[in-house]
Amino acid sequence: MKGKFITFEGCEGVGKSRQIKLLEEYLSKNQIKYYLTREPGGNPVSEQIRNVILDGKNTTMTDECEALLYAAARVQLLKEVVKPKLDNGELVFCDRYIDSSLAYQGYARGLGVEFVEKINDYALKNFTPDYTVFLNLPPEQAFKRKGGVDKTDRLELSGMEFHNRVYEGYLSLAKKYSDRFIVIDASGEKEETQQKIIDALKEKGVI
Ligand code: TYD
Repeated sequence: MKGKFITFEGCEGVGKSRQIKLLEEYLSKNQIKYYLTREPGGNPVSEQIRNVILDGKNTTMTDECEALLYAAARVQLLKEVVKPKLDNGELVFCDRYIDSSLAYQGYARGLGVEFVEKINDYALKNFTPDYTVFLNLPPEQAFKRKGGVDKTDRLELSGMEFHNRVYEGYLSLAKKYSDRFIVIDASGEKEETQQKIIDALKEKGVI
């Protein structure tokens, strides 16, 4: 039996990592088996690619190079980790996936969705997530709640306009792929958001 592949998406500072941690606690408490990985990364090769992409010193990196590096890290993760686990019938959660590339590189960097889809063909055709949990919170609200940006992270240093474009991109994707997108209002307390995620995953028969 093929396993289930669930991805998490959202703009910077929406509390994605926090929510994934809380979900892990819930799954462990309820003895639900799962495997959690992340993008870019999740295996030694992709983690090295991650370091190159996110290194604040790489100021000359072109948008195309960045998009291709994300796609390369993704293919490695899929072949080495995700595919074997899905073939084994496991429940796999991934912190970010193809929609991050579509929103960040396709929409916000302006490379266009078509270009990003083309270089991610393998991930799109063979490993479409069963569901994508999108934590919905506009960047202005997210940064206000977080109390500023992380000045060592190349991507977080991009301006507010960039993050707003990412957000608009996600909203378009949620519409386009409404069958797999689970849109969660992330503006409330963390416990409230967590409950919404658990309820939605239960309703979809994932957990
Ligand atoms: P990370 O520190 O993991 O951020 P977060 O906690 O917000 O997930 O860094 C990942 C960064 O990489 C994040 O800014 C989003 C960006 N990203 C892309 O631009 N394209 C992609 O395809 C992926 C997977 C991530």
